[in-house]
Amino acid sequence: MDLLELRDITFRANGKYILNGLSLTVRYNEVHALLGTNGTGKSTLAYLIMGCSGYKPSSGEILFEGKKINELTLYERAKLGICLAWQEPVRFEGISVRDYISVHNKDIDPAPFLELVGLHPELYLDREVDKTLSGGERKRIELASVLALNPKLAILDEPDSGIDMLSTDDIIRVIEMFKKSGSSVLLITHREEIALISDRASQLCGGRIFYSGEPERVAEMFKSRRCLICDGEVCKDERD
Ligand SMILES: Nc1ncnc2c1ncn2[C@@H]1O[C@H](COP(=O)(O)OP(=O)(O)O)[C@@H](O)[C@H]1O
Ligand SMILES: [Mg+2]
Repeated sequence: MDLLELRDITFRANGKYILNGLSLTVRYNEVHALLGTNGTGKSTLAYLIMGCSGYKPSSGEILFEGKKINELTLYERAKLGICLAWQEPVRFEGISVRDYISVHNKDIDPAPFLELVGLHPELYLDREVDKTLSGGERKRIELASVLALNPKLAILDEPDSGIDMLSTDDIIRVIEMFKKSGSSVLLITHREEIALISDRASQLCGGRIFYSGEPERVAEMFKSRRCLICDGEVCKDERD
């Protein structure tokens, strides 16, 4: 049995197919990279797995540890051990970084988690999670909070995107920590070099996964911007 299994997922919004026949598995103790160009539906897939409001598959099944979770709320899925680090994290006014990281477990010491994402605890623990934090700082704090939750599945939506982004070394350090604590990771990215960190990778195009396998092979195919689904039509000129 796999940790996460997506079976033939379709998702339509405004009459348009965003995902169309998507199947994907994430195994236990696996770092699985999901590669796709901008606008291919990577974040949409993350919201569907997490169960965000408005994101229910039009058809298909989402199985977590062998159980169908399509009908579960975001909160119920979080309790099962699924956690999402958002591509654009929200800011919360009136909560300190310390409380934000330890909100689900008052017994943990938030400092090592901040250090791991490259922020000095003494400079950040008592700051508020508000608009005075830069996008990059906010993303790092978001990752620290996901690490502190010790989820069974951590979905990281483009931890390497945006200004002031995490470096590849930062991401490797964070991924190693997830592995050490037994979490599986779905690592969403549009950079093939990041996919090389993973144990297995999948390429998303035309609303489905057209290949899952060796990260080196997937990265190579992705780089060439040719895939069997769109024959290069979607993938070719979308470099950013
Ligand atoms: N709720 C929605 N309603 C309408 N269109 C959507 C919705 N969510 C996503 N989309 C569209 O689906 C496509 C995929 O978006 P997204 O999942 O954000 O891509 P990615 O994360 O791969 O860049 C985009 O064209 C986006 O505009
Ligand atoms: Mg996205």
